[in-house]
Amino acid sequence: MKRVTVIGGGTMGNGIAHVCAQGGLDATLVDVDPAALERARATIRKNLERQARKGLIDEGEVETILGRVSGATSVADAVADADLVVEAVPEKAELKYDLFRTLDEAAPAGAILASNTSSISITEIAARTGRPGRVIGMHFMNPVPVMKLVEVIRGLATSDDTTEAVMTLARALGKTPVEVNDFPGFVSNRVLMPMINEAVFCLMEGVAEVDAIDTVMKLGMNHPMGPLALADLIGLDTCLNILEVLHRELGDDRYRPCPLLRKYVAAGWLGRKTGRGFHTYDA
Ligand code: NAI
Repeated sequence: MKRVTVIGGGTMGNGIAHVCAQGGLDATLVDVDPAALERARATIRKNLERQARKGLIDEGEVETILGRVSGATSVADAVADADLVVEAVPEKAELKYDLFRTLDEAAPAGAILASNTSSISITEIAARTGRPGRVIGMHFMNPVPVMKLVEVIRGLATSDDTTEAVMTLARALGKTPVEVNDFPGFVSNRVLMPMINEAVFCLMEGVAEVDAIDTVMKLGMNHPMGPLALADLIGLDTCLNILEVLHRELGDDRYRPCPLLRKYVAAGWLGRKTGRGFHTYDA
């Protein structure tokens, strides 16, 4: 694989373009919002410079890697010669279905179409295309340049060749891919989101304050960060969207999103990306 196109330049998309470019691929980042593209480029630069300061890459590599990242606002042009497309637009099923129909028309017939979805069925996304064997989940973790795991999700029709190609690429990018099957939330969010949701219930019911909840889970369970801080990092809107999918698709009330989470999202308190979630953040 030589050319990857990443659709959506938000929290995840910029990190995916970053690791692909660092791995030697040409990476085109597509976003409907030109300002998001500018922010993404600035974030990639900042993160590469941090890697250089830590001695993880040479200082001279910062510009070389950035030189492999380009931006675009039109999906059709940007995928015309892609070997791989990784979609990282918001966690809304209809948005992803429409996008995959477009990708299927515009990308070369041999290209693999991957989704970074946290919870939406890969099988259902693939069914919107004429190439379900070449559709797969490639679920990177946040922050992408730092986190080792890529959860690779096989839809019902995903071929062995597609799975192998994506596992090989993930390893070449320095990641550890783990293959899982297509169920709502896969493994990562099936386990993580109920914990985050329960932490929000604890807050809503007055069991403890924000810092107390996070400290209990950090010091008591040896988690690197508390569940409310992690929710802020992920984005509270993204957490709510994932819980909605788990609740609807698995049909079990244990996945019912906490009303306080809904309230924060309604208020626009989405976590780090808006400067305020359960914690507050400097601009
Ligand atoms: P985000 O909201 O930070 O970024 C989404 C970007 O997509 C925005 O810049 C938006 O302008 C752009 N966009 C919207 N519609 C578009 C379209 N039709 N074409 C091109 N660009 C479009 O979202 P985030 O957090 O990066 O999430 C993206 C995906 O990654 C979601 O499916 C999410 O569930 C998944 N994910 C998120 C993680 C997280 O920690 N935030 C972790 C792992 C997966």
